Amino acid sequence: MNIIFLGPPGAGKGTHAQRLMQELSIPQISTGEILRAAIREGTPTGLKAKACIEKGELVPDAVVIDIVKERLQQADCANGYILDGFPRTVAQAEALGTFAKIDAVVNFILSDDAIIRRLSGRRVCPKCGNTTHISALNGSTVCPVCGEELVQRKDDLPETVENRLKVYAEQTAPLISYYQARGLVRDIVCDGHIVDENHALVRQSLGLED
Ligand code: AP5
Repeated sequence: MNIIFLGPPGAGKGTHAQRLMQELSIPQISTGEILRAAIREGTPTGLKAKACIEKGELVPDAVVIDIVKERLQQADCANGYILDGFPRTVAQAEALGTFAKIDAVVNFILSDDAIIRRLSGRRVCPKCGNTTHISALNGSTVCPVCGEELVQRKDDLPETVENRLKVYAEQTAPLISYYQARGLVRDIVCDGHIVDENHALVRQSLGLED
């Protein structure tokens, strides 16, 4: 199954894509993660993306379209994939339609308050990439998976989150009606804070058994 996870920053797209990837044995393709890796490695793509990401702006369409087009040609995508954070503009969706056939778009719905709570408490591991929330850490500051000191993403600072929400509303939310018109959208309301419960909603929306 070729799936798009669509939703505002902090909706849980990455969290649920990580789980579903293991359950279905298909890759998670997160353009955010690919771009952050390019920044860490100092590649030309990373240099182009850095300023945009740190301001909460989108990286230019042409850059991300090329990344995804190339990634979908790899062998591990042959049996399906989860696109996490792509497309994010109508131009990206139109480009995607020329090289991929999408089966379902899971639309994550939650309030701005819940988003701000999640992003202000999100911590990531710079070593193994694990994402967690301070509410699950019981005061610890190290990664529960590998023991490395956790960090906060620069784009999770309050002023950047505000801009990311604005950019989502203006440039990405129009994709909901774009894919509704194609009969692909499965809405899930995921304001709750219990990850297992939200994950059950994701699975149900895709017709997967519990
Ligand atoms: P990207 O990394 O894609 O960021 P995003 O879409 O803003 O999404 P996030 O990673 O912030 O959140 P998420 O929905 O994955 O939530 P998470 O699972 O971590 O993109 C970053 C930047 O890259 C963009 O701003 C842009 O500049 C650029 N970019 C990327 N793709 C692009 C594109 N296609 N075009 C142009 N530019 C692009 O969960 C959040 C937190 O909530 C975690 O701490 C989690 O533990 C916690 N949590 C608490 N309770 C729950 C629960 N019940 N369910 C899920 N999570 C929960």
